[in-house]
Amino acid sequence: MHSFKEIVALFEDYISKEGLFDRSPENLYEPCRYIMSLAAKRVRPALCLMGSEVFGDVNEDSFHSAAAIELFHNFTLIHDDIMDEAPLRRGNATVHTKYGLTAGILSGDIMLIRAYEELAKVSKHQADVLHLFNTTAREVCEGQQLDMDFEKRNDVSVEEYINMIALKTSVLLACSLKMGALLSSADKTDADQLYAFGKNLGLAFQLQDDYLDAFGDANKVGKQVGGDIKANKKTFLLIKAIELTKDNPERIGQLLKSDADTKVEEMLDVYKEAGVDALCRTLIHEYSEKAFKSLAAINVEKERTAPLYGLATYLLQRDK
Ligand code: IPE
Ligand code: IPE
Ligand code: MG
Ligand code: MG
Ligand code: MG
Repeated sequence: MHSFKEIVALFEDYISKEGLFDRSPENLYEPCRYIMSLAAKRVRPALCLMGSEVFGDVNEDSFHSAAAIELFHNFTLIHDDIMDEAPLRRGNATVHTKYGLTAGILSGDIMLIRAYEELAKVSKHQADVLHLFNTTAREVCEGQQLDMDFEKRNDVSVEEYINMIALKTSVLLACSLKMGALLSSADKTDADQLYAFGKNLGLAFQLQDDYLDAFGDANKVGKQVGGDIKANKKTFLLIKAIELTKDNPERIGQLLKSDADTKVEEMLDVYKEAGVDALCRTLIHEYSEKAFKSLAAINVEKERTAPLYGLATYLLQRDK
């Protein structure tokens, strides 16, 4: 069994040997190599490989699947940065800012195709793996559409927000774990329990992402801090702030219409005065507790799930 750090090292080794984008034309493949080379946490491939290790050993199929998932994730990031008009990713220029919109669109597309090429190499349980991957990929698109739709609405409920982040983020973490489990021939109940762990962990993870987008340290986060506020993203912070100031809605109403330089700073003041930062931390804690309960319910010796406890604890305390 391996720790998060060890498993990431194995994964990096695997993808560097694969030479994922050693082709031409340069203008198509260089942006792919670029995004894949930037410092990433590699959470999803680690979850996939660790999912295999809960019930057995990592094998060739787990590496193909882990690579497919990380490729898919990076594809969604390139396109997400176009949609979110984001200048920074992993502490560097986003693909579309550095190479242009065509590169962003087409390199994203090729990464998705490359993900399927990895899945085509899976030798066992391939139909189940593909079914899970396709369902998840469709859900991520659905979540991304809702995320964009919500920018234009000011009456989004917490329930709608949770459904949206479940789709755009949680299901991919959950899928990664379950795919790993399937590849170790885990029984269905256990694989589903691992999926439930990933789903709750993913909700806590996206809440933390939203929290860092508002309150994180720009030098550590590696993304533009305040981007969600500028875009009127309906994060838990904003939804709760709207709800808690509903008797005096003018200030937040004005801020939502504003594109002044002070918008982010002023919205952060509203958040702090309303105390939504603390509410967000509480909710992160609640979802992580739920996640840990699902993990504890899996029918294996405790030491087999210990690395996942380690990874989940790291994710919930992360500052980037
Ligand atoms: C960013 O994912 C997108 C979200 C779902 C919040 P990560 O925070 O895992 O990004 P990298 O891959 O480590 O850069
Ligand atoms: C990203 O949500 C979800 C996907 C990429 C599918 P965000 O838009 O919050 O992710 P970041 O903050 O840009 O990484
Ligand atoms: Mg984004
Ligand atoms: Mg987004
Ligand atoms: Mg974000």
